[in-house]
Amino acid sequence: MAVQSITACKPEATIIPNMWYAVRESSEVKSGKPYAFKRLNEDLVFWRDRNSKIVVMRDMCPHRQAKLSPGKIVDGNIQCHFHGFQFDRKGACQLVPANGRNGPKPKIFQCMTYPAQEAHGFIWVWSGEPRSEYPPLPFFEGLEEHIYTSAQKQWNTSYTRAIQGMLDVSHLPFVHAKTIGRGNLTLVNGPYTTLADDKIHVWISNQPDVGLPAMKPTEVPSPDGPPQIRFHFPNIWQLWIGEKVSLVIAMTPIDDEHCVLYMRFYQRMLTQPLLGRLVAYVGNLYNQYVVGEDEQIVVSQHPKHASLEVGERFIPGDRPIALYLKRRRDLILAAQAPSLPPNHVHGEPSLYQ
Ligand code: FES
Ligand SMILES: [Fe+2]
Repeated sequence: MAVQSITACKPEATIIPNMWYAVRESSEVKSGKPYAFKRLNEDLVFWRDRNSKIVVMRDMCPHRQAKLSPGKIVDGNIQCHFHGFQFDRKGACQLVPANGRNGPKPKIFQCMTYPAQEAHGFIWVWSGEPRSEYPPLPFFEGLEEHIYTSAQKQWNTSYTRAIQGMLDVSHLPFVHAKTIGRGNLTLVNGPYTTLADDKIHVWISNQPDVGLPAMKPTEVPSPDGPPQIRFHFPNIWQLWIGEKVSLVIAMTPIDDEHCVLYMRFYQRMLTQPLLGRLVAYVGNLYNQYVVGEDEQIVVSQHPKHASLEVGERFIPGDRPIALYLKRRRDLILAAQAPSLPPNHVHGEPSLYQ
């Protein structure tokens, strides 16, 4: 059973129901002990069963509501620290010590569990009710041969603000004037942006301001090359620098005012494992520095969550951000009323000033 509060959403809620969220690096949850982490606005406990398969549960014992995370892993179950009840990976009670080893284990002692899986080095949690079939994980293709290193940073703002920041092409010459935004490319043509299958693709075509008007998103000719910015709902982003180098960031909600950025540098310029990791490590140091430039300004945005209702005004260059907000709102509304048309953007969002 999934946690009700995730699905009982409002249009201004930030967690999108029925999606796979990247919530942690796999390496952060080792076998043999439970780990407490707040994610998706819920206190969760992460642990591994006998086969090292990941389990994600609400961090609350169904007996007398103590946290499960101070407990232990015993015989492939999680044991509550308070009265020693044990629960299996499905959340079913397997032992009530006070009732005796062969005593009753009533079904009412059922932990809330989340559908969860691991792939691409991430733990993914499904933000909705369990179902018999799930959509594929929204990870990026073409990174299978790359070597990557990972770093993380908590931001004191909503993950929705972080996502906006990563879709923002007009801030580059200001926030990143000395790093990736060098060259004073203040004029924003487009950007040409597509939204399909809950993936936003952005082609950056900024240039120096020589007095010409900026081309509107609808005036920019469709580009030949691949998009530089890719965002896959609900929370992962890629900066494609070339076939051999990419940055990937998972922007993971803790709650409405906090998130974690999992930053990865992928490369396959050097494939020898040790050297390859060293290059990825150094690349990721630079990546973290640049993302730190974003953090300073993004955490100053108020309110801390982004939505179409908070009063932001947009320019044509903000089209990727407007598409993100509109699609997120539509997905949340569609989860409430499944008859709404899914995955369509009808022309321009009509949000620009
Ligand atoms: S509160 Fe967990 S076993 Fe009693
Ligand atoms: Fe930035």
